[in-house]
Amino acid sequence: MPATATYQLLDGRACSDALKQRIAQEAAEVLAKRGRAPHLAAVLVGDDGASRTYVEAKVKACEAVGFRSSLIRLPASTTQQELIKQVQALNADADLDGFIVQLPLPDHLDADAVTLAIDPAKDVDGFHPVSLGNMVLGHDGFLPATPSGIVELLRHYGIATNGKHCVVVGRSNIVGTPMSILMSRNSDPGNCTVTLAHSRTRDLAAVTREADILIVAAGKPGLIGAAMVKQGAVVVDVGIHRVDDPSRKSGFRLLGDVRFEEVAPKCAWITPVPGGVGPMTIASLLLNTLKAASDVTRKLVN
Ligand code: GUN
Repeated sequence: MPATATYQLLDGRACSDALKQRIAQEAAEVLAKRGRAPHLAAVLVGDDGASRTYVEAKVKACEAVGFRSSLIRLPASTTQQELIKQVQALNADADLDGFIVQLPLPDHLDADAVTLAIDPAKDVDGFHPVSLGNMVLGHDGFLPATPSGIVELLRHYGIATNGKHCVVVGRSNIVGTPMSILMSRNSDPGNCTVTLAHSRTRDLAAVTREADILIVAAGKPGLIGAAMVKQGAVVVDVGIHRVDDPSRKSGFRLLGDVRFEEVAPKCAWITPVPGGVGPMTIASLLLNTLKAASDVTRKLVN
């Protein structure tokens, strides 16, 4: 790294730790008010290694802030009907504030139909069309965890977004598309002019070089190099990929969609991988669960 590098880290671990402290205090208040802690359930179908790691991290985070958590493991052979029945049971479970079905699901299952079966009042992932519609309209509701975690990260570090050009790379339903909406909203952070780039974008480098704020959620390891980034940009890397590395004890290391070593020296701010967006996604899920529990509490009180 050149000696002139002056970038600062958007440290998702530090930011999520601060958020989790606040969440823990509010969880204690919910417990005092209604006699039970916020309760999140996660459904994991099959045994995809990465999904298991993510779900276990979510359950652990619940314990750390004083939430109850339930992990429901279903075999990879689970049928669509069985999974929908499980979702309906969780919808009806009055002991539960919110739940998620970890994606991706095995190929024979229809994730859209499963998401549609979730009661929007318990949709703490913010993936249900009702949640996404509320987000687009600027109404109160559950925001998808990764995009809202990124907004919180930008807020935490006081990143100026008003009037800036934000380029989002990747148009997935759970990250890129909602991210583009949140950054264009009339709010702070927000008020950006947004370009949503994707796999059919012509001359991606020419587009990303125009970004004051570049958010990359393409799912392609090392897609973004130094020549694709404007000097002084803010870069948020949503990618997280395991690549073999025999020199490490674990046998692998984690890489983002951004080539950190070459891109960081051009940046004003950049997220590390790991320790950037990942911890913020989990903190946002906890925030949504707290909101679900608090909304219930409010309904009980009023
Ligand atoms: N798979 C990757 N990210 C997510 C997420 O935020 N929620 C769920 N349910 N599945 C995911």
